[in-house]
Amino acid sequence: MSTAKLIFEGKEHEFPVFEGTEDEKAIDISSLRAKTGAITYDPGYGNTGSCKSTITFIDGEKGILRYRGYPIEELAVGSKFPEVAYLLIYDHLPNMNELLEWRKQLTRHSFMHESMMNFFDHYPPTAHPMAILSAMVASLYAFYPNSETDEELDTNIIRVLAQAKTIAAFSYKISRGEPIMYPQSNLSYAANFLRMMFGSPAEEYEVSDVLERALNQLLILHADHEQNCSTSTVRMVGSSQANLYASISAGISGLWGPLHGGANQEVIEMLEMIVADGGNYKKYIELAKKKDSGFRLMGFGHRVYKNFDPRARIIKKACDEVLAELGIKDPLLDIAKSIEEVALQDDFFISRKLYPNVDFYSGIIYKAMGIPTNMFTVMFAIGRLPGWIAQWLEMRRDPDNRIHRPRQVYMGEKVRKFTPVDKR
Ligand code: SDX
Repeated sequence: MSTAKLIFEGKEHEFPVFEGTEDEKAIDISSLRAKTGAITYDPGYGNTGSCKSTITFIDGEKGILRYRGYPIEELAVGSKFPEVAYLLIYDHLPNMNELLEWRKQLTRHSFMHESMMNFFDHYPPTAHPMAILSAMVASLYAFYPNSETDEELDTNIIRVLAQAKTIAAFSYKISRGEPIMYPQSNLSYAANFLRMMFGSPAEEYEVSDVLERALNQLLILHADHEQNCSTSTVRMVGSSQANLYASISAGISGLWGPLHGGANQEVIEMLEMIVADGGNYKKYIELAKKKDSGFRLMGFGHRVYKNFDPRARIIKKACDEVLAELGIKDPLLDIAKSIEEVALQDDFFISRKLYPNVDFYSGIIYKAMGIPTNMFTVMFAIGRLPGWIAQWLEMRRDPDNRIHRPRQVYMGEKVRKFTPVDKR
């Protein structure tokens, strides 16, 4: 075992170094405070490993993303979302019997408890769908509180995977004053969602193969991404032994932010703003380079990827295919491609290794599907559910895991004497 030496206040300390499967090196500083009395300082945890994990591997320099060792490029074209969800959660691709049973359970548990329908009566029609999704997922615990046995936990896992899409589709229909569509047992996960969103009791809903395939691919591409902000939130909340639903609900809230999953909504709003402003995208690229402008090129940049986000490549290709097959010409896609082309030749973006990320093109396809912009991050959340669940399970089963409780460097006042208000 190699070690790392630290000389601190004239004393030398050694810390063990260990390597991951892909030769990532980590210095184990879990004894640092006991040995030196000091802590590390790493705002945003850019240099801090929070756990060991076997779920997802990312190589940010090479633009590699693998789920349980399988390259995202192969899963995105060869698999379906329920299969990838099973892989992430149970660490192997299901055989035919396992997959059929898994899909049967996902359909069977797609129905929400009927009492939850009353919740929708009290949200304003303008309520953001992420607020509804986060609240409703946390409320699942009120209806399904038992998760002591593995069997109960497995059922709760299926419930949240199956019901999140139902909650999303129901909230969409209700916000429009349209009748809700219940899931159908003869439809796939993606097809059920499309029918619940865009079907009507007045007529048969013909599921488009193009949209079903595109939705499966988008959900797969969002399924996990190791220790990102929302996944770390799920692990943090779960580390206090909060239940699965509370942990996932917290993850949904973490994903909502515009710097994270909320960026897919921001990208479309940014592109629409540029189109409305005469399509002058170069003006906005210049603005994004000015620190004090407060404007960022949404959908660009990433904490880990310092090369292309492999997901962005796949989604960009899917944009062309889906829009061509639907016969849609979307000026937003042309603007997005122009921004990418110009930005990737501009030293500001090159020197900071800023490339399009998963959110840059995804909204173009969601828009082509007819999904409203304020639901784009809900789509990201539905896709990310299996990753959050797999990471939560891994955290709970990790013998090294303790309640997450970072330290701080206090920079406030030294001790002060209290004076009663009539003496101040
Ligand atoms: C996701 O972590 C994950 O894995 C997340 C995710 C997942 O699957 O879970 O991949 C999903 O969240 C993708 C990211 C979506 N967010 C956006 O598209 C928002 C726009 N991007 C940024 O705000 C930013 O790039 C982040 C938040 C993605 C990353 O932030 P970092 O790593 O903290 O980088 P930073 O803000 O310190 O930026 C480094 C430099 C700065 O300039 P300097 O101070 O060096 O001069 O790059 C600049 C930044 O100003 N910069 C940008 C920029 N992103 C970074 N400048 C203009 N436009 C941008 N988009």
